[in-house]
Amino acid sequence: MVVQVRGLLKRYGTVVAVGNVSFEVYEGEIFGILGPNGAGKTTTIEILEGLRRPDEGEVRVLGFDPRKGATDLRERMGVQLQRTAVFRKLTVFEVLEFFRRLFKKRIATTDLIKTFGLLPKKNTYIRNLSGGEHQRLSVALAFVNDPELLFLDEPSTGMDPQARREMWDILQQARHRGKTILLTTHSMEEAERLCDRVAIFDQGRLIALDSPASLVRSFDASKRIEFKVQGEIDVSAFLHIEGVMAGENKNGLMILQASTPEAVLPKVFELAGARKVNIDALRIVNPTLEDVFLKLTGKQLGNENSR
Ligand SMILES: Nc1ncnc2c1ncn2[C@@H]1O[C@H](COP(=O)(O)OP(=O)(O)OP(=O)(O)O)[C@@H](O)[C@H]1O
Ligand SMILES: [Mg+2]
Repeated sequence: MVVQVRGLLKRYGTVVAVGNVSFEVYEGEIFGILGPNGAGKTTTIEILEGLRRPDEGEVRVLGFDPRKGATDLRERMGVQLQRTAVFRKLTVFEVLEFFRRLFKKRIATTDLIKTFGLLPKKNTYIRNLSGGEHQRLSVALAFVNDPELLFLDEPSTGMDPQARREMWDILQQARHRGKTILLTTHSMEEAERLCDRVAIFDQGRLIALDSPASLVRSFDASKRIEFKVQGEIDVSAFLHIEGVMAGENKNGLMILQASTPEAVLPKVFELAGARKVNIDALRIVNPTLEDVFLKLTGKQLGNENSR
């Protein structure tokens, strides 16, 4: 077990940022903390990094208390903060060189620059990097000491879709080399594609923890059929179809819940034909973590990264 959290609690004044949270991170996994803004993700991860002091509970990182592990622990972990203020007047190469000198074990700077696709920006000043490039650099900084454990706070924020996929590849390769990664995200897609296990946080509470597939299965989120209709028909007409469990009309998009869409589809078309309306842009949607989150909290997590 690489990380152990028991009964963790952190307050800011009257706000309970993290309330009585317990979980473990196993060696060699990518563990994700998923939750909306203010859920307590950064507070939790920064307590594990030794940057914030918990009010209650017990925390172990590679066997150490992160506030006491000092140099031994620091050599073995890598940290990417949600907000990094790196030296704006240094170049990409210089910043990486600077940070790797703080450690005994080091990765060659040029290799890191290549891995993170920053070769064309090697001699660019930090202040002239784009948002996504800056983000790539801040994740690269977590790798300078070739750590066995990585803490990444929203690693793909601000990246375009291609950069995000490249980042996922880098993290998956790191896992193949035996690294353990604890990351935070509010992207459902990122959690589903990348994480072995996901802890869902909401308002400082841990409300579910499992692999993405098991979460989707255990919360019994059903498949759904989505389509648009040209013509006049009320969604209630489709609710009479056998196998349709629920339905709604969301701004013109008909959404029908059905555990076996294949069986329901012909009847949907039959009904449309009988009512002389056309069905358009139909698709079957598998349940996702988004549905799990909605079911657990009654809220949608949706954000710019999630689709
Ligand atoms: N230093 C602080 N002082 C006071 N309140 C804080 C402090 N840090 C966090 N909080 C509050 O604690 C709660 C959890 O914040 P935290 O930064 O851990 O959330 P988060 O899940 O990382 O959110 P985001 O997705 O926006 O990064 C929020 O209500 C936040 O306003
Ligand atoms: Mg945060």
